[in-house]
Amino acid sequence: MNPAVTLDRTSGRRVAAEPIASLTLRLTVNGEERVLQVEPWTTLLDLLRDKLDLTGTKKGCDHGQCGACTVLIDGRRINACLKLAVTLEGQEVTTIEGLGQPGNLHPLQAAFIEHDAFQCGYCTPGQICSAQGLINEGHARNRADVREQMSGNICRCGAYTNIADAVLEVLEQGKQP
Ligand code: FES
Ligand code: FES
Repeated sequence: MNPAVTLDRTSGRRVAAEPIASLTLRLTVNGEERVLQVEPWTTLLDLLRDKLDLTGTKKGCDHGQCGACTVLIDGRRINACLKLAVTLEGQEVTTIEGLGQPGNLHPLQAAFIEHDAFQCGYCTPGQICSAQGLINEGHARNRADVREQMSGNICRCGAYTNIADAVLEVLEQGKQP
């Protein structure tokens, strides 16, 4: 139901609801402490893109199916479209902008360029954040593991072989910033 509308129990009719107050949210985004006023229904994805102008994180399906919105929370990867921002009090969010910048690329960003691991690039921020999460988890040992554990990140351009090459290079060489 539209949050501006509620059901009157006596009449059974929809009526204008009392405005829902925004909540104060304190969290760290890419190393910077932020204090934000957030509506309870705002997803982390919309917070990043619409309020913080961090548009590197992409909106693909908006319901947990494509991985384009993958970011890191306290080092663990999540789909930002499925996470309500208000649940992240005190946590640390890292987006693609926090991993590396032009002139100071993260090893995964450099490896994606080196291995030509993208075409349109729409899935790439999510792929790289997911790969960093996979490396943090420490369970991937080989190409099959990488393919399996990154299977939630869809690439419509079909760059999977080169993506796996790039991730494997960083994984095997233990490259970290
Ligand atoms: Fe979040 Fe597709 S936009 S999984
Ligand atoms: Fe185009 Fe992956 S590079 S969707």
